[in-house]
Amino acid sequence: MTTGRPRAGMGGAPHGPEVRRIDPVDPEPSLVGRAARLLRRGRLVALPTETVYGLGADALDAGAVARIFAVKGRPAADPLIVHVADPSSLHRVAAEVPDVAWRLAARFWPGPLTLVLLRSNSVPAITAGGRSTVAVRIPAHPVALAVIEASGTPVAAPSANRFGRISPTTAADVVAELGAEVDLVLDAGPTRFGLESTVVDLTDRPPLVLRPGALDLEELREELPDVVFRPHGHDAAPAGPGRYLRHYAPMTPLVLCAGEEDELPVVVATALGHRGLRVVLLTMERAEPTATDAPGIVRVPLGSAEDLGSVARALYRNLRVADEVGADLLVAQAAPERGPGVAVNDRLFRAAQGRVVSDAEPSTVEALAEGGLATAVLPAGSGEAPPVSGAGG
Ligand code: TXA
Ligand code: MG
Repeated sequence: MTTGRPRAGMGGAPHGPEVRRIDPVDPEPSLVGRAARLLRRGRLVALPTETVYGLGADALDAGAVARIFAVKGRPAADPLIVHVADPSSLHRVAAEVPDVAWRLAARFWPGPLTLVLLRSNSVPAITAGGRSTVAVRIPAHPVALAVIEASGTPVAAPSANRFGRISPTTAADVVAELGAEVDLVLDAGPTRFGLESTVVDLTDRPPLVLRPGALDLEELREELPDVVFRPHGHDAAPAGPGRYLRHYAPMTPLVLCAGEEDELPVVVATALGHRGLRVVLLTMERAEPTATDAPGIVRVPLGSAEDLGSVARALYRNLRVADEVGADLLVAQAAPERGPGVAVNDRLFRAAQGRVVSDAEPSTVEALAEGGLATAVLPAGSGEAPPVSGAGG
């Protein structure tokens, strides 16, 4: 089985996984068949979707699903998304499909919307993290659809990263995250959205957005006007599945500048730079560093506020690039809270683990620059884990 497997460039690892280029539009049937056979045999296949790369296994095979949890280092209570290829398969995984689910399916599937429904007994409890519900979606990617269809089974696929880390948007990211623990990686190039699907719990009344994502909330509201979304920071509810604060995190501690003032991240980064810290500055285009920048600030542009779709698409890539600098701190600017900016900010907020600086108070910037910075910024706000530890990564 391993004969002739192409090496994946795993810097020193003895074996990379088998990585195969596959046509993103018209996937080669031989590769689709190979992936489907592996899935049916309980193996793990990393697949492109329109959002991020997923780590796929037969959702109905408890042993295969257990391997997903082991390879990702994912807590058993964090349920997986089950992917199907057509709406009629909903009945295989959900015990009840309300009318509203059919309406959403008709409008948004295939696409980056995940629905939480009551779980059917055919889905093993382990797939759903022991819950009575199941998350399901039809991905809008020819490769994912073809493989699911050929496998003849629903496919559980979390993002193909180690738990708590940045989701992969390329096959190379998958290899960097999971290495040889995946049986096959299908490489269809970079993903279209670059952020995960929007997750909506339809078993709650009113329906609740559990995770903002690639489907804009504005669009979702057109079909589901009563849907509730509590953005980060306004979330009084205890962390449920998918609400872990430490998530989507680079290894380097990240400070999030959330506020209207474009200058804030530059001021923060500059002040930190003058304190001798090596800083990567991730800003929207308008916040250009000025001549007052401290030396040693590396800039990674996040993109234009006028094109938040491309900010979202490049976000994980940019976080990986920023992480590779090996700086002491990343200072990121929040996006405008609209359209894809909502999901971008959700991920940045989680990456910051509570290290959020706001310019809401006029005196804040001055206070930071005057030296309250180290104490204001450096301690992780969540108290969950030391900021530089590789936990979850
Ligand atoms: O775009 C995506 O959704 C990607 C691609 C591969 O499809 N998948 C993905 O899966 O992001 P994952 O496992 O990384 O994130 C799934 C999220 C988690 O936050 C999980 O807690 C939540 O969905 N979730 C899954 N099942 C759930 C359930 N039954 N109830 C509540 N939340 C659930
Ligand atoms: Mg994930």
